[in-house]
Amino acid sequence: MGDRESIPALMRVLNGERVDPPPVWIMRQAGRYLPEYRELRNRAKSFLDFCYSPSLATEAVMQPLRRFPLDAAILFSDILVVPDALGRKVWFVEGEGPRLEPLLSEASWRFEEPARAMQRLAPVYETVERIKRQLDKNVALIGFCGGPWTVATYMLQGRGGDKDAARLGAYTRGDDVDRLLATLVEMSALHLQAQANAGADCLQIFESWSQDLPTPMFERLIIKPTSQLVKRLRALGVTAPIIGFPRGAGAHLGRYARETGVTALGVDYQTPASFARQQAPANMPLQGNLDPQLLVAGGKSLEQGVREVLAAFKGGPHIFNLGHGITPEATPENVAELVRLVKGAA
Ligand code: CP3
Repeated sequence: MGDRESIPALMRVLNGERVDPPPVWIMRQAGRYLPEYRELRNRAKSFLDFCYSPSLATEAVMQPLRRFPLDAAILFSDILVVPDALGRKVWFVEGEGPRLEPLLSEASWRFEEPARAMQRLAPVYETVERIKRQLDKNVALIGFCGGPWTVATYMLQGRGGDKDAARLGAYTRGDDVDRLLATLVEMSALHLQAQANAGADCLQIFESWSQDLPTPMFERLIIKPTSQLVKRLRALGVTAPIIGFPRGAGAHLGRYARETGVTALGVDYQTPASFARQQAPANMPLQGNLDPQLLVAGGKSLEQGVREVLAAFKGGPHIFNLGHGITPEATPENVAELVRLVKGAA
């Protein structure tokens, strides 16, 4: 009782406890599938302005929590505020996603010093403070950043998607890319530290582009920078648990789990829970991995999908989530049903 009751279920799982039913949150839980988000979004000129407005960003975080009894809130921001703060131009094309000026077409690469870049991100930390003040104490607050390679991919080729150009750059301009990764490691560490200091209970690293890498490249572009980032955070005194989500890591998943120093492992929807469990260190908390399309499909398929995920992860500490972000086509009714199914499962 007492103390234990006041620790959010999500934090208990990150501490290695099995909680039944498992805590649940949804990647991209604030977003366009909610009509009230779309309305709120219209109040800012650009998506980045939205991210840098503590009042709009805080409201976006609270919207899904008013509808659904979720176990976590996640800061509303984007992984691309980091390149923006480093002085790169970042913009969002409606219906297409983010754009940056591709570094690979430029002769010399210059970035703002991380310590100075942090000044631009001050509104993000103010947002974290505001959310923390409004949040129930049984709801955990998650801060986040992009994995160094994922952010570098956007910076190198100017967009996500086809990663071949970024990987080619890692071969042809190796020293430049390694320096870029070192800059992103330092910047991401400072960014996560500031979120933790402002009130984030745990931190997630979104490594969305870890697929399609040969082993030496997975070591150099994913494992090495991520373990440096975790080490740097710990050296900065940050004790918050870290969820690593290396989407598409496939056969490299176990090495990511064992060698980067992350506390917990996000599992994408194409990876079997049994494989993740077997590859990860004993008792490592796992997060995932429902197919986001089931929140579009709904009905019996959703019900069956939720049961399968619950059963597949039952053998160890589990945080229920999707295996990738929710899509704009998902319905709030299906999200409500998902949370009901998970909560009613004990
Ligand atoms: O999870 C949350 O609710 C917190 C907010 C959050 C956003 N982006 C808001 C957002 C988080 C955690 C992210 C992470 C992010 N951003 C990732 C990693 C996760 C993943 O999906 O792989 C990546 C790769 C990005 C870069 C990015 N930002 C993309 C590819 C897009 C376009 C996506 C789309 O569907 O158009 C964005 C824009 C973005 N970030 C939106 C939101 C709600 C949609 C833009 C809008 O509302 O106008």
